[in-house]
Amino acid sequence: MSDAARSDALVLFGGTGDLARRKIYPALLSLARNGVLDVPVIVVAHSDLDEERLRGYIRDALREEGRLDAAVFAKLAPLLRYVRGDYRESPVYAALREALVGCRRPLYYLAIPPAAFPAVVDRLGDASDVGHARVVVEKPFGRDLATAQALNRTLHRVFAEHAIFRIDHYLGKEAVQNLFYFRFANSFLEPIFNRHYVASVQLTMAERFGVEGRGAFYDSVGALRDVVQNHLLQVATLLAMEPPNGSDADALHDEKVKVLRAMRPLAPGDVVRGQYRGYRDEPGVATDSTVETFAAVQLHVDSWRWSGVPFFIRAGKRLPVTATEVVVELRRPPHWIFDEPPSRHANYVRFRLGPDRVAIAMGVRAKTPGAALVGDDVELYCANERGPTIDAYERLIGDAMRGDGTLFAREDAVEAAWQVVEPVLRNSAQVREYDAGTWGPPEAAAITAASGGWRAPVPAA
Ligand code: BG6
Repeated sequence: MSDAARSDALVLFGGTGDLARRKIYPALLSLARNGVLDVPVIVVAHSDLDEERLRGYIRDALREEGRLDAAVFAKLAPLLRYVRGDYRESPVYAALREALVGCRRPLYYLAIPPAAFPAVVDRLGDASDVGHARVVVEKPFGRDLATAQALNRTLHRVFAEHAIFRIDHYLGKEAVQNLFYFRFANSFLEPIFNRHYVASVQLTMAERFGVEGRGAFYDSVGALRDVVQNHLLQVATLLAMEPPNGSDADALHDEKVKVLRAMRPLAPGDVVRGQYRGYRDEPGVATDSTVETFAAVQLHVDSWRWSGVPFFIRAGKRLPVTATEVVVELRRPPHWIFDEPPSRHANYVRFRLGPDRVAIAMGVRAKTPGAALVGDDVELYCANERGPTIDAYERLIGDAMRGDGTLFAREDAVEAAWQVVEPVLRNSAQVREYDAGTWGPPEAAAITAASGGWRAPVPAA
């Protein structure tokens, strides 16, 4: 059997954690529904459960998420096994070995705090033959470049790079796949997708909600580490990269790394950090926290294609809406021949990446009917897909089980992304307060001022 063969067991570390409840179990249910998951699922956790109670626990978690489907759960339930214990201690690995008798290529999923990764990886290496095993590692992948490199070294002590699947769930999103597809399945965009025609690129990831019970975790990361270094730099990479030479994972990763390396490391003046008023009162948050719940960033991509075109990123909690959107703003026509003044934001491509809708739209200027040569800004929808779709975690877990690393982050890409944010990680810009329900601190306006300001996501998507 080749290494690309399917995993024959899924071992979930951290099976009673928040991520497992909210994302992983619903994904496993969908995989069972589609007949993709038919191998043992071994949950490793500390909680006082046995197999029967584990099934009840997962059923409850699915119900809470509004995802319980009794008929499908009846397919998933018999696959579930439980190994109880502290994953930092050896006895767990003896029990795990027993549970894995007959399995040759398990997929280990580490949905656990990053601090526990080294201990678990080392124990897996000591305790079992990991020859055909794979490992899925959840974000955050390190806290900075040095810790990411250390984590890569730890993983490589036991697993080869092709067996390591670093999850960035944004890469599994339908909308992000759509963006990649749209860019490289059409030729009309290519001649204008460069510094000659693009004035700026904006990415907004806005969330109306706050830290939602994750205060302690969030206070150890902040917006730059939580979503900018990973999700948003990945989206920026898909927008800025050159076309890959082929469809294999490495061809894609090579291009992504190339453009990440072209991104200039951020300087303090490129970033405005904000914190919503009331954040310090959230459970788990330090009362004197200087962690940012909002970041606005100006990124420079020093390549022939993008030199001089600013890429603006802003992400924050407790903003006016929940929406993720990209706007590629085109330059104005070089010579304006009509009597009316040219519109400020007439020509653009807009990618709506969520939460519910996946849409691509193009902003154009069109003539208003009548005698005069005057017009309106109008939007053409190129795509607006609302049909049944595949959830990011479902897609990614299915891919990892098949050994397909295309939608995961390669070692060099993760390190290159850390290199971009590294200089501003240590509170280099003062954190500024903002009111919940606003677009971050007023100082964020300065980041885009020379390019016409921030574009709020379109309300109706
Ligand atoms: C996670 C972040 O990675 O992504 C969260 O830790 C954020 O803070 C979430 O809310 C957003 O993901 P999605 O899929 O809900 O847009």
